[in-house]
Amino acid sequence: MSEMARLQDRPALRERHVVDELMASLSPETRVLRDEPLAKRTTLRVGGPADVYVEPASEADLAAVLRYCAAREIPFFVLGRGSNLLVRDGGFRGVVICLAHPAFARIEVQGECLHCGAGARLKQVAAEARRHGLGGLEFLDGIPGSVGGALRMNAGAMGRATFEVLRTVRAMDAQGVVHEWAAADLEVGYRCCPGLKEHVALEAVFQGRPAPREEIERRMNEWNLKRWQSQPASPSAGCIFKNPAGIPAGRLIEELGLKGARVGGAAVSTEHGNFIVNEGNARARDVLELMALIKYYAKAQRGIELEPEVVIVGED
Ligand code: EPU
Repeated sequence: MSEMARLQDRPALRERHVVDELMASLSPETRVLRDEPLAKRTTLRVGGPADVYVEPASEADLAAVLRYCAAREIPFFVLGRGSNLLVRDGGFRGVVICLAHPAFARIEVQGECLHCGAGARLKQVAAEARRHGLGGLEFLDGIPGSVGGALRMNAGAMGRATFEVLRTVRAMDAQGVVHEWAAADLEVGYRCCPGLKEHVALEAVFQGRPAPREEIERRMNEWNLKRWQSQPASPSAGCIFKNPAGIPAGRLIEELGLKGARVGGAAVSTEHGNFIVNEGNARARDVLELMALIKYYAKAQRGIELEPEVVIVGED
């Protein structure tokens, strides 16, 4: 059967009986929403709805959702805090899974390690580490994402990246089977972790090191200040492109004279060239067109191939 025919054969996911069938296999604590707008769940605040949006209340329910999708070849993706995500205007034909239920948000300190659920906020992880006098995790304070998102993309800031402070990770595959790896056994790169691409991260163990609380606090304040001085406060998806070899994308975009360039309601930030901000009424299309324009000039004028850092999902 052709790919197109197969996709057309798929049950209309938004139909009530299809969703009812999915819900029948889940505990009542799991939230399932049809036609859920995603714009409000991303920091960029653009994009259409998900056919189905699920917040599993347990690993068992998450496994059931994944098996449901696998059996029917329904596409899914995992939404973290939506801080590095661009959803296209047509929304997502499939299931969006979000580990926002408290069952996935635990942060437990054991000795010098923090055991964190994938749904926990990185800011919270950094705060707990500080409370227990554990240094080395201060950079997580400034990343507006969840533990799961940080694992999936090896998120970083201030010259540090998630996998540098990671000991182990637990993750579930598309068949609902749980795996556990030492961080060193997973393939990682700059802003990517191919080893976790097909998995849903469940839990991470971060390694801290004892440090005076004032020192941790001072570092966090210093970095916060640096961030507030160099990055825009308006809605954005963080850095939109990965830094290419040789020059930070922000500087390159500034040198190309593109700061302030706009398409519709999307504009290149005047504060930091590698941020596209939503001025209030942007559509995903505006952001994508602006990205294409930046890519075009970077290639034409400097021979540099910019690669999106932001994850792009959905259809036009
Ligand atoms: N710069 C300019 N013009 C600009 C922006 C930056 O000349 O418009 C220059 C800065 O002066 C600096 C250099 O470019 O000399 C690098 O800028 P910055 O220190 O802001 O760091 P960055 O490489 O642009 C990276 C991460 C950020 C992270 C910051 C701070 C990437 C793509 N970005 O930005 O991460 O917050 O360091 O640690 O790696 C993100 O991943 O979404 C993100 C925002």
